[in-house]
Formats: sequence, C-alpha cells, structure tokens
Amino acid sequence: MPYWGQILYLIEGRNLMATAAQAVTSTILNIEPIDLAYAGLKEDALKGEVAVVTGGASNVGLGYARAIARAGAKVVIADFNAEAGAETERVINAENGPGTALFVKTDVTSESDIKNLAEQAFEKFGKVDILVNNAMNMRLNGPILSSPISDLDSSYAISGRGVALAIKAFVPGMLERGHGVVTYSATQFHFMPPMVGGTVYCAGKAAATSVMMSLANEVKDTGVYVFCLTPAGVARIDFSKLPPPQEGMPKFDPSMFAMPGFHGMIPPEAGGAAMVYCILHAKELHGSGIIINDAFDAMNYPYPNPATLHKRESRRLSDLELTMTFCNMGPGFKK
Ligand SMILES: NC(=O)c1ccc[n+]([C@@H]2O[C@H](COP(=O)([O-])OP(=O)(O)OC[C@H]3O[C@@H](n4cnc5c(N)ncnc54)[C@H](O)[C@@H]3O)[C@@H](O)[C@H]2O)c1
Repeated sequence: MPYWGQILYLIEGRNLMATAAQAVTSTILNIEPIDLAYAGLKEDALKGEVAVVTGGASNVGLGYARAIARAGAKVVIADFNAEAGAETERVINAENGPGTALFVKTDVTSESDIKNLAEQAFEKFGKVDILVNNAMNMRLNGPILSSPISDLDSSYAISGRGVALAIKAFVPGMLERGHGVVTYSATQFHFMPPMVGGTVYCAGKAAATSVMMSLANEVKDTGVYVFCLTPAGVARIDFSKLPPPQEGMPKFDPSMFAMPGFHGMIPPEAGGAAMVYCILHAKELHGSGIIINDAFDAMNYPYPNPATLHKRESRRLSDLELTMTFCNMGPGFKK
C-alpha cells in the first residue's frame, strides 16, 4: 500500500477518511472505501440524476465518479485510459449495483469521441444532468521556454477544446429540461507561481476556466448552474513512483505540503464528497469558483453561512478574485 494510503488524513481537524461498509477493492485503482455519511450527505441525494465525469478513471475524477454514484446518480466515465476506465465501471457497479456506471473510452479533444460519448450516455441513461469536466494530462506542466509548442497545443486541446466540446454535447439537453450542473476541476494558479505547476499547465487551465465563467453568463436564469471546484492537493500518491520531473522543473519535494494553510493530501474519496456537496449547492455557486478546503469548511454548517461569509471572502471567489489573489502573491508582485 502506498505511503499516503497509510496515513490518517486530517483536514480542518476532522478525520475525513472514509469508513464505510462497501469494501470493494481493486488491484488497478488506488481506492479506499467510500462513505458520504461523515459529510452529512444522504446516499440518495443525487437519485435520478445522470452524470458524466471526464478523466473519471484516476485520482480526483475517480473520487468524483464514485461519490456521485454513491449519492444515487448514474455515472458515465469518460477517460482515454481503457484499463482504468473499465475497472472504474466495475468498482462503481460493485459498490452501488449493476447498471450504475458506464465507461466510454474517450479522448476529450476528439469531436468524434465526444459524439460517441454522448450517444452512448443518452442510449444507456436517456439524459445527462451533470457534466464534470475534469480530464487533464498532468505531465503537460513545463515552462514555456523549454517545452515544445506541441505541449501548449495539447494543454489547450484538453482544457479549452475538451471542455467546450463536452459543453456543446451535453448543455443543450440540460437547457431543454431547465435542469443541469456543469463543473470544472480548476486550478487556483492561473500563472506559474514559484513552487507548483508550470506555464503550459496553467495556461490551459485558465482557458477552460474562462470558458466556464463565460458559460455561467450564457446560461444565466435557465436552471443550469456552472461553477469551478479547485481540488488543491487531492491525491493518494506513492511519491517513490513519481516519474522524473520534466526539463526545467524542480524535483518534487513532498515537504512543500507542509506550507502554512495546507492541510496535507486530501483523499480522493473526500474530494468526491466535496463535489457532491457542491453539486447540491450549485445554484449558490453559479458563476464562481470554490477551493476544496472551503467546501469542507462549508460542509460543517448550512451553506453559505452568512455569519462567516463576510469574514472570509475566500469562501466564494469569483474567477477575477482568484486570479487577483494569486497575482499579488506571484513573482514580481511582492508587497
Ligand atoms: N490533484 C489535485 O490536487 C488538483 C489540483 C488542482 C487541479 N486539479 C485538476 O483536477 C483534474 C484531475 O487531476 P488529477 O490529479 O486527478 O489528475 P490525473 O492525472 O490523476 O487524472 C487525470 C485523468 O484524466 C485522463 N485524461 C487525460 N487526458 C485525457 C483526454 N485527452 N481525454 C480523456 N481523459 C483524459 C487520464 O487518463 C486520467 O484518468 C485535472 O484537471 C487537474 O488539473 C487537480
């Protein structure tokens, strides 16, 4: 078992490690049992809904897909990793009952793949209510100076084009029914800060966030709600198995997770619970972004809590505010 799988995850002073009954195991996927009860979430909270999760066969997306299914929804996993995707379908069906999950091998940058994804999703489940845009190739994270321009093309293709293709495939149906949620796994870094990410990664993520925030305006007052959720430290990683860094990038240093305000790695199962919570509160989040620790904070009490909202502006950040926050912390902008 990987190192991070052995430690007790403490976030905001609470143990968010899943404790649940369904002990489905996998030799391919790095999973722990999932249980929504600790987060005060009901297992039928999303009953009747159908979700598509891109990049749903690994880490963050896997946690989202499993938690959304645990909350009673049907789930379509769209990922280009066929082995992990098929295993994700098996795990979710074993945890929730046959027919809960469908895996469709999909490259989100391909128009024909997204068309096939939509056809299969509609054929199996009749509709899609929730679109979770989450796919990304995390290796596309080098500096602009030393990365081939094809890396930037790929980053924009997955983040910008991929998100736009999925929106065009699934949002029209949501608008027809006046019911839907579109979300995106954003980053809080819209340019490269000193210690994380890379220019190529941040540029693609910023493009997708721009599409999302603009979509929020396009679908205003339709019953379709759009927001970004920033996972920020969601992983169960075996650091010893990490590939070597790309040229120009520093060697990964786990001690960076000791930085102030950072609570350590968040297990994907807990990340999934936060996503379920945010989906249930999508109307309040419409047109904004939320960082996962703030979602956990909010899960302690009715959301949003007016008593704390004005004290902690970070609870509900607009995209502009997010960008401004990190601009002020970035290189060349030291106060
Ligand atoms: N992990 C974090 O803490 C964190 C922080 C901020 C943002 N994010 C965002 O969350 C998302 C998931 O991150 P992760 O850490 O789980 O990454 P990951 O690499 O573990 O998973 C990404 C998944 O996307 C799939 N994928 C990649 N390219 C694809 C494509 N073209 N078509 C379909 N599927 C594709 C991969 O096969 C994989 O299953 C990413 O968008 C990432 O930018 C993560």
